[in-house]
Amino acid sequence: MKQNIINARVTFRNSPIHVLEKFTIKNIDNAYEEFKKHSGLDECVIIQTCNRIELFGKSKEYDVDKIRKTWASLTGLDEETFKENLELVENQEALHHLLKLTSGLDSMVVGEEQILGQIKNSITSARNTKASGRHLNTLFDKAIRIGTRIRNSSGIGRGGISVGSMAVKLAEENIDELKFKKTLLIGTGEVSTLVAKSLQRRGYDFAVTSRTLERSKAFCETMGGNPVKFEEVLSGFENYDVLFVATTAPYFLVTYDRIIKAMKQNKKGMMILDLSNPRTVDEKVATIAGVKLMNLDQIAEMVEKNMTARLNKVKTVENIINEEVSVLEASMKRLDAEPLVKDVFKNIDSLRAKELQKALQMLDEKDEKKIKIIEELTKAVVESIVSTPMNNIRKASEQGDPDILETASKLFDYKKQAD
Ligand SMILES: NC(=O)c1ccc[n+]([C@@H]2O[C@H](COP(=O)([O-])OP(=O)(O)OC[C@H]3O[C@@H](n4cnc5c(N)ncnc54)[C@H](OP(=O)(O)O)[C@@H]3O)[C@@H](O)[C@H]2O)c1
Repeated sequence: MKQNIINARVTFRNSPIHVLEKFTIKNIDNAYEEFKKHSGLDECVIIQTCNRIELFGKSKEYDVDKIRKTWASLTGLDEETFKENLELVENQEALHHLLKLTSGLDSMVVGEEQILGQIKNSITSARNTKASGRHLNTLFDKAIRIGTRIRNSSGIGRGGISVGSMAVKLAEENIDELKFKKTLLIGTGEVSTLVAKSLQRRGYDFAVTSRTLERSKAFCETMGGNPVKFEEVLSGFENYDVLFVATTAPYFLVTYDRIIKAMKQNKKGMMILDLSNPRTVDEKVATIAGVKLMNLDQIAEMVEKNMTARLNKVKTVENIINEEVSVLEASMKRLDAEPLVKDVFKNIDSLRAKELQKALQMLDEKDEKKIKIIEELTKAVVESIVSTPMNNIRKASEQGDPDILETASKLFDYKKQAD
């Protein structure tokens, strides 16, 4: 009866971004079906961000090889590739990892907020498509609540460090007098917002473009910057010295030809920061003299350096997670016993109600006060007889003792429903 929670993941921690992106699952709904059909998982949640592709699953029995095989068939990758990049943990370690995710401890930029939103979106869509069920829904709801509480109490996210601010810092470190450079932001999404916030906070002017001018205008009204037409940008990169590129375009927007053309217009240099994954800047532009290209991997390195400053908070959060994980584990294990406990209570209560009605009819009792007293008596008797064995069943479940659950199911003639 014991259920396992597993986590299989490929993240920026063990794979550089260009390797990581190969593990991306394109059709999530189809992936849910495939994992359920072929890997022995009966609940799944996929979390996919630019820094990680993670599968959480629930099952009584699962097969790591089959998980790998299914994932490989979904991505067209060789199974061998998974041996190097895929990490797999189960139960307590999987819960621990999920708490690290929700509290921001496993993020490239420790404490960043986006991951929490991404996890909420993942569980909402898994829930809507019924890819997840009672176990993973409960687990994620709890982990999101705990993560939010940890963030608030530890202040891990305070100080405004984000992918955006790190990118701006990287530009500052690599360019003299960023203030006097012409800066362009391509994209008006979540990451662009973080870059714009950071540029704005530091007092830099910048232009903003996205496919529709209206969207750029609306973005600039709240985030600052000057909107420019997309077509003008694509044909005139020579007008800019620094590019921040954060789009989900499935092809290169900043191509070799466009940048070589720009550099021919007497430009001294250009710095391009590609925050996109998959990349939207052709890596070949780095071979053009005077062009410096940086991507998410370099930001990861920079974040690593910044981490030392946050180590104290990280330690605090780790301690809280270590305490929370056992509470979370106990409540997940208790879930195994809940259907049985609920069923027993329901059956006994309907017997109680039936016998009560019989007795009241025989007594021909009409006095509401007396009826109430008799009813309360029946409830108290049932409660005092049933609550101890039921609590013991819950405790056995918490302590991972499936034998007691099996025995109790037989004793109470409980037929397990499909989870
Ligand atoms: N969110 C994170 O935590 C995070 C962290 C690091 C890196 N990243 C990476 O950063 C990139 C942007 O992420 P995001 O979260 O900001 O995404 P987002 O909020 O969905 O925004 C996507 C942006 O891409 C633009 N876009 C989409 N298709 C395009 C195309 N064909 N040509 C030009 N522009 C296009 C959209 O602009 P219009 O539709 O208005 O034209 C929009 O501005 C992604 O590659 C992501 O993997 C994300």
